[in-house]
Amino acid sequence: MSTEKLETLEAELLQTINAANDIKSLDTIRLSIFGKKGKISLLMKSLSAGDLEAKKKMGQALNKIKHSLQLAHQRRESELKSIELNNRLLKERIDITLPVRPEKNGFVHPISQTIDEIITIFGQMGFTVAEGPDIEDDWHNFTALNIPLDHPARQEHDTFYLSPSRPDDERMVLRTHTSPVQIRSMKNSKPPFKLIVPGRTYRCDHDSTHSPMFHQVEGLLIDKTTHMGHLKGCLIDFCREFFEIDDLPVRFRPSYFPFTEPSAEVDIGCTYNSGEFRIGRGGNWMEILGSGMVNPKVLENCGVDPSQHQGFAFGMGVERLAMLKYGISDLRTFYESDLRWLRHYGFSALNIPTFIREAVQ
Ligand code: PHE
Repeated sequence: MSTEKLETLEAELLQTINAANDIKSLDTIRLSIFGKKGKISLLMKSLSAGDLEAKKKMGQALNKIKHSLQLAHQRRESELKSIELNNRLLKERIDITLPVRPEKNGFVHPISQTIDEIITIFGQMGFTVAEGPDIEDDWHNFTALNIPLDHPARQEHDTFYLSPSRPDDERMVLRTHTSPVQIRSMKNSKPPFKLIVPGRTYRCDHDSTHSPMFHQVEGLLIDKTTHMGHLKGCLIDFCREFFEIDDLPVRFRPSYFPFTEPSAEVDIGCTYNSGEFRIGRGGNWMEILGSGMVNPKVLENCGVDPSQHQGFAFGMGVERLAMLKYGISDLRTFYESDLRWLRHYGFSALNIPTFIREAVQ
């Protein structure tokens, strides 16, 4: 075959390769060129005739063509593969804007929902979550928190005491608040501390606003220069985010807790007249949590040097916050496990509060 003819053949074959529009037809083309009976293979075979010099020249030329065709094939193959992959990705794309079908059988309990919301808000401020035992000893629940022996909280009618299994054993209590976890966290590690503690707490009480078991979220922030201004900013931000009211009035009212000094009760603004209740502006106030600068005696009890470190703590009742936010009027209904109540007040697993949705977007 003449060199010219070879060149024409090469050009033709290159064109065929580049014109293939899918992997399957490219493969058929490949076989028709390089397969056992393919054009190039047959030409290679035909080399056995003819004189040595001509054979050598022809062989070299054929090899060159073979190589360039192989390269062209490879290139076209990877082009076609990526086109096919892109087409598949386009076809198989999951439309994440389509809402997922809501779960029909299960609901998130308003207490779990409220705790999740509280954790999310403080999580965004950099607080981590700590936990502690429900059964506490007297020292962690009272003494280390500077609660004197004659404090009313220590009285039998407020605290559930557990009878010791052996006469000499210490009498344990069901923790009356989440504050003992402040003590455990500070004793277990070194400052700075920035944590919240969601958990169950117990007091001997039962009426429409009290239940013997209830939930609290404790907060503790200890650093070198943390002051009352930080406490106020942090809790004002929390209240406004939680109730989703940007201009919610928040008031700090002097109070007393043995473990904080000074102490402040936090109230939020609301409207309350002739049976109508609404959170927001309106001239009335509703107490929602206790707070204060951690008493230096408490820091000392935990081995933290009060001349080097200071900070604030707060504690809030989850049921109360849930009742206020979601309009639940009787605290006892939280624990009656009435399915009709749960269906009404429960949350679907994907019911994400607006402030969390904004944060994750
Ligand atoms: N432990 C207190 C209570 O149960 C709340 C509180 C926590 C107050 C931390 C101040 C600081 O009422």
